[in-house]
Amino acid sequence: MKLSKAWRLGPLGMKEMQHMLPQHRHRGQLKKPTWIIVLVSMVCMFLAVAYIYPPQTSSACFIFSASGCQTISSWLPPSVRELSDDEIASRVVISNILNTPPMESKNPKIAFMFLTVGSLPFEKLWDKFFQGHEGRFSVYIHASRKKPVHSSSYFVNREIRSGKVEWGTVSMVEAEKRLLANALKDPDNQHFVLLSDSCVPLRDFDYVYNYLMYTNISFIDSFSDPGPHGSGRYSDHMLPEVEKKYFRKGAQWFTMKRQHALVVMADSLYYSKFRDYCKPGMDGRNCYADEHYLPTFFHMHDPNGIANWSVTHVDWSERKWHPKSYEKKDISEQLLKNITSIMESVHVTSEEKVCTIDIICYLFMWFRQLPVVKLIAFGAEEYIWGRFELIVKKKGKGEKDTM
Ligand SMILES: *[C@@H]1O[C@H](CO)[C@@H](O)[C@H](O)[C@H]1NC(C)=O
Ligand SMILES: *[C@@H]1O[C@H](CO)[C@@H](O)[C@H](O)[C@H]1NC(C)=O
Ligand SMILES: *[C@@H]1O[C@H](CO)[C@@H](O)[C@H](O)[C@H]1NC(C)=O
Repeated sequence: MKLSKAWRLGPLGMKEMQHMLPQHRHRGQLKKPTWIIVLVSMVCMFLAVAYIYPPQTSSACFIFSASGCQTISSWLPPSVRELSDDEIASRVVISNILNTPPMESKNPKIAFMFLTVGSLPFEKLWDKFFQGHEGRFSVYIHASRKKPVHSSSYFVNREIRSGKVEWGTVSMVEAEKRLLANALKDPDNQHFVLLSDSCVPLRDFDYVYNYLMYTNISFIDSFSDPGPHGSGRYSDHMLPEVEKKYFRKGAQWFTMKRQHALVVMADSLYYSKFRDYCKPGMDGRNCYADEHYLPTFFHMHDPNGIANWSVTHVDWSERKWHPKSYEKKDISEQLLKNITSIMESVHVTSEEKVCTIDIICYLFMWFRQLPVVKLIAFGAEEYIWGRFELIVKKKGKGEKDTM
């Protein structure tokens, strides 16, 4: 009885027992203090042995009751659980890819991967962005519904075979993986950028190229959100491979280095957990694989290899369930100035600070899809490009840059 209590309380239980025992003495049940000392030291020894040789099998948990076992696992090293064959295989492949130095390329390129419905509304803007940098980038387009009509030669014949994409379902992640697989075919592609059709660049090509190429991390958004739209979406069906404490959230617009793209291709075990158990209506809740799979996967396997924020700005400042949508009156020089000069980012739900390393946070900006037509109509494209050239010119005049 006392033993199992000590087990449940862990090392802290010792203090409680020391408080309990003198009371017994006052009641006169145990008169001899030596008896108490013997008992206490036996318990101590038992706990010490149990700490050094933790129970390896589930039968040990059974003896000390299920709740006792949970407490033990929370203060013991995490390796107590025996890994399955699939997990051992998966982990060894992941760690080998991560520990193998990246393939050297004489002509390193950045792969710009566009996840679109059909045509790209900002194609002309991207055309200006790419001009003069031929050979240092490649373009891939996954158009899920309509065949795009192109206005820029950089986009012609760059569509990959696509599949249907349904909002909120794993088909979004499938499309991301399809883009990565196609972009990986070119060994010169060293960094991979996922963008939507409503993304615009906020910096010039050289700036973006240097920013991404000379950092050895991936910009993957990953944070803990204890609320119903974060951990509340977790399902126990993901056990034992994905524990709730590892469950993370993040915007889907990533950039990743080649090693990380390969790791994503190599994974089927963790992916299958999200495909099967993180979907709308799962256990009466809505879980969206595109917001949780990569943030959780990289948090588990390479937490220091990711920045924990995305370089694509999405405005959540209104704290609604969808990001802010911009209107004509919102697109001002001040807004763009603000976004391009942000040097610290805080995840709204977790208060976790990221991007605090004296570097600008955002290279791209995401507009909510609906108003894009409106933006085009009033010439936002020209406006943003104008602002853009202003930044470039200022930089040329010797404005100090943080890169
Ligand atoms: C990235 O580079 C820095 C400095 O060269 C190094 O300290 C760090 O360990 C590297 N990180 C990874 C994930 O390779
Ligand atoms: C990202 O977050 C994880 C876990 O919170 C942390 O261990 C890691 O150091 C962070 N990455 C960077 C680059 O700070
Ligand atoms: C720009 O940032 C300043 C300071 O944070 C803020 O007061 C202002 O409202 C912002 N302007 C726009 C247009 O976002």
